[in-house]
Amino acid sequence: MSAELIDPFNRRIDYLRVSVTDRCDLRCTYCLPEGFKDFEEPAHWLDHAEMARLIGLFVQLGVGKVRLTGGEPLLRRGLTDLVSRIAPLPGLRDLSLSSNGTQLARHAQALKTAGVTRLNISLDSLNPDCFARITGRDGLHQVIAGLAAAKAAGFAPIKLNMVVLAGQNLDQIEPMVEFALREGFVLRLIEPMPLGHTGQRMPAIDLTRLGETLAARFDLLPRIMPHDAGPARYWTDPAGSASIGVITPMSQHFCESCNRVRLTVDGTLLLCLGQEARIELGPLLRAGASDAELIAAIQAGIASKPERHEFNEAPQKIVRFMAQTGG
Ligand code: GTP
Ligand code: 5AD
Ligand code: SF4
Repeated sequence: MSAELIDPFNRRIDYLRVSVTDRCDLRCTYCLPEGFKDFEEPAHWLDHAEMARLIGLFVQLGVGKVRLTGGEPLLRRGLTDLVSRIAPLPGLRDLSLSSNGTQLARHAQALKTAGVTRLNISLDSLNPDCFARITGRDGLHQVIAGLAAAKAAGFAPIKLNMVVLAGQNLDQIEPMVEFALREGFVLRLIEPMPLGHTGQRMPAIDLTRLGETLAARFDLLPRIMPHDAGPARYWTDPAGSASIGVITPMSQHFCESCNRVRLTVDGTLLLCLGQEARIELGPLLRAGASDAELIAAIQAGIASKPERHEFNEAPQKIVRFMAQTGG
């Protein structure tokens, strides 16, 4: 079948982000609250075969990029099995993973062998105390070991996601840029978004000018990216081996070029990170829906994709945390 998913705003949806678990071993201040218990019941988790079936249908509908996220995806048992099921899908050209890196040292080689092409790793600080204050856990050394294992396994690019938090990690920006340039990583600096009460209590920060300022300081050049390259704007070192980027969902939203939807661990298709619009594919699948019926439900979902988030106009709107949404 050659098909496309086009939403009412004429955006082509070719990127699916799949949250394979809502659980996480960290408790980042802007994401999951300490003591959070309201995780999805295991009985509702799609198993690997169910996830692979839904992902296969999206790929038939023209989705060429899939990202596995969480929660922390490496907490999902047998993740490499899921990767091996979906990596060979004809039409899938990019299979990436967003992880906090704590378990990566053990899994990096197997993920590479199974077919993951790119890794994005959350890292907000290189200072062990600051890392522990932000994540609630003393795990910096594990993430650093995970990054080394990912490099050794041959992943490229490896992106670092740093959420910039006023009063918490501003003094870590320059050390993180130096680290990225030295190690050949892509560092992305991200404005916190008001997802859940945790995200909502983070002070707003405008990173519009930060990229240019850092580029001037570190002799970096603006990098022209293809239209579908995602929400970051990038600057690179002259050799092209490392770069920095800024992601500014709050100060300059990029929704007009949105190309993505999200699937949660229970099979809910979330049509926008910052809206409630959704289609419950999980119950439909478990009720015995045919591929044609599931495709019709996916198409109906895309037809209801919201135009944009309202993080600035209605910051209290989204009560779910990023861990429940999937990156
Ligand atoms: P690439 O495919 O490597 O470009 O990844 P990505 O930047 O799309 O994904 P990643 O999971 O690394 O997310 C980086 C940051 O961008 C996170 O803070 C995400 O929540 C944010 N982000 C990703 N997609 C969207 C989106 O559709 N809308 C908004 N507002 N933010 C997004
Ligand atoms: N705002 C911005 N980014 C967030 N992330 C998690 N919660 C938020 C938030 N409220 C980031 C994580 C991870 C990525 C997938 O999303 O740090 O890198
Ligand atoms: Fe797309 Fe919604 Fe993210 Fe905007 S907030 S880029 S519309 S998913």
